[in-house]
Amino acid sequence: MKILNYGSLNIDHVYQMPAFVRAGETLSATDCQLHTGGKGLNQSVALARAGACVFHGGKIGADGIELKDFLENAGADCSFLRIDPDVPTGHAIIQVVPSGENCIIIYGGTNKQITEAEIDETLAHFEAGDLLLLQNEISNVNYLIHRAHEKGMITVLNPSPITAELLEYDGLSLLDWMIVNRGEAETLAGSGSGEPIDVIEALQAKYPRASIVMTLGKRGSMCLSRGQRFYSRTYDYAKRVDTTGAGDTFTGYFLAGLAKGAPLDKCMDMASRASGLSITIAGAANSIPNLETVLTAEPIELQ
Ligand code: RIB
Repeated sequence: MKILNYGSLNIDHVYQMPAFVRAGETLSATDCQLHTGGKGLNQSVALARAGACVFHGGKIGADGIELKDFLENAGADCSFLRIDPDVPTGHAIIQVVPSGENCIIIYGGTNKQITEAEIDETLAHFEAGDLLLLQNEISNVNYLIHRAHEKGMITVLNPSPITAELLEYDGLSLLDWMIVNRGEAETLAGSGSGEPIDVIEALQAKYPRASIVMTLGKRGSMCLSRGQRFYSRTYDYAKRVDTTGAGDTFTGYFLAGLAKGAPLDKCMDMASRASGLSITIAGAANSIPNLETVLTAEPIELQ
């Protein structure tokens, strides 16, 4: 099975803040760094570091060559990564506060210039049984789902960030897998709050074709697939520094396990361990651990 991740690549401008800026307020950052990011790129890095064979489809500008280098060094194949010298690469402005939580603004740039013709050209290299992974930071996501489904590819969506446009995609009902956090699950299901099992079952009722993985922050994650339920706890390794990219790490490691044919509870456990490690380091893609570290790191009990 080949994995194609058609997704965003961003230059992350990360600001360490004493608190999130509120409307009308001006605050000084205590530090500022440039990092490699984008939900798409992060998930390809996680897939590659987990040992999966991943092709990254997407687009950068002339200012984004370092993102391609980063992906290739991580082990992702960039044959389907296009460069448009006339459009700036996507970027993100990220505030991180001392608790490790973040707030993110994204500017699409080249991520929003992906055309149907480019998608057709790329998908021609894939076939039935291959897997397509998507997030919601690029143009033509609904088109991608339809074309990949027609080819018999396994379609996986991490619908992040949720937008009004995404909620209208008729392709959502064709998906084979959804990987969501609790807030995304509630919005997609259109149901209010409740116990996590109620939320995931409401989402499953709306999209009966899809298997669903729902992450629950410190409460772990749960999965509903073909009528069976699976759960995973979370793991702590050190003080939480930066949660940016933790969800992407989870998604990449989960799918790497799925592609290898591992049992679903094992896929979730490895994904939880990898995302637990990722939040102990600042940054997005650079904080994603390799497989050896995930297999050998000893979790601790945080006070
Ligand atoms: O999920 C984290 C990512 O979201 C960041 O790397 C940023 O680029 C945004 O896409």
